[in-house]
Amino acid sequence: MDNYTESVHDVKVDSKESAFYVDAAKYWEQVPPTVDGMLGGLSSISDIDLKGSQRFLNSIYQLVECPGKERALDGGAGIGRVTQGFLMKNFPVVDLVEQDRQFLEEAKKALEPTKHKGQFFNIGLQKFIPEVGVYDIMWVQWVLGHLTDDDLISFFIRCKSGLKPKGLLVLKENLTSSGEVEMDNTDSSVTRPRALIIELIKKAGLRVVKEQKQQRFPNDLYEVRMFAIQPV
Ligand SMILES: C[S@@+](CC[C@H](N)C(=O)[O-])C[C@H]1O[C@@H](n2cnc3c(N)ncnc32)[C@H](O)[C@@H]1O
Repeated sequence: MDNYTESVHDVKVDSKESAFYVDAAKYWEQVPPTVDGMLGGLSSISDIDLKGSQRFLNSIYQLVECPGKERALDGGAGIGRVTQGFLMKNFPVVDLVEQDRQFLEEAKKALEPTKHKGQFFNIGLQKFIPEVGVYDIMWVQWVLGHLTDDDLISFFIRCKSGLKPKGLLVLKENLTSSGEVEMDNTDSSVTRPRALIIELIKKAGLRVVKEQKQQRFPNDLYEVRMFAIQPV
């Protein structure tokens, strides 16, 4: 068996975990393991999203100090929509981190008949500790609103150690236009304004090297931006 065994790493839920995380886990437990489920009924935007991500990744590889193309991480991977639709086309090895076991099992099932190589980690990002110095790209999409500010800073710091020397962490997230943090009690998440995201990135000792707004999304959605970030 090689390093990229397709076993699901099991990590037990901490009983002391706060209601913010427990409520989110309960919400996702009752969501169907489908693209529609992942995108809150908006599976119609999945293709546009994946194409926008590909364009952003291409622009990253035009940077002078660009990362390698060997191994990526999909953070908050759900059923593997981003892994299968985009990351796997660029990286021979893609690891998935997802707190919901059912989603991760679905991802595993969907990826089995493909050429996918990579590990599956069944754990929340607030606890995930990446292997040191192995990732060219860590792609984290539509999940960071499930982490508290403090946990997000700690997650960013752990990601720094997971990156190869020229590696990049990429965030793709909704942003509020009100300048305020907006709480969603349905799925127990927050949506942050751009300024707060930048502040948290800086607090973790990282800097934005490239930023782009996702184009062609319906106007009634939050603005979505991608940030490629690197240790200062
Ligand atoms: C909106 S879906 C996005 C899934 C995937 N990133 C995509 O774009 O298709 C949010 C995902 O984050 C997962 N999630 C929620 N809280 C999490 C946490 N604390 N750590 C890791 N994953 C989490 C959910 O289970 C769900 O799969």
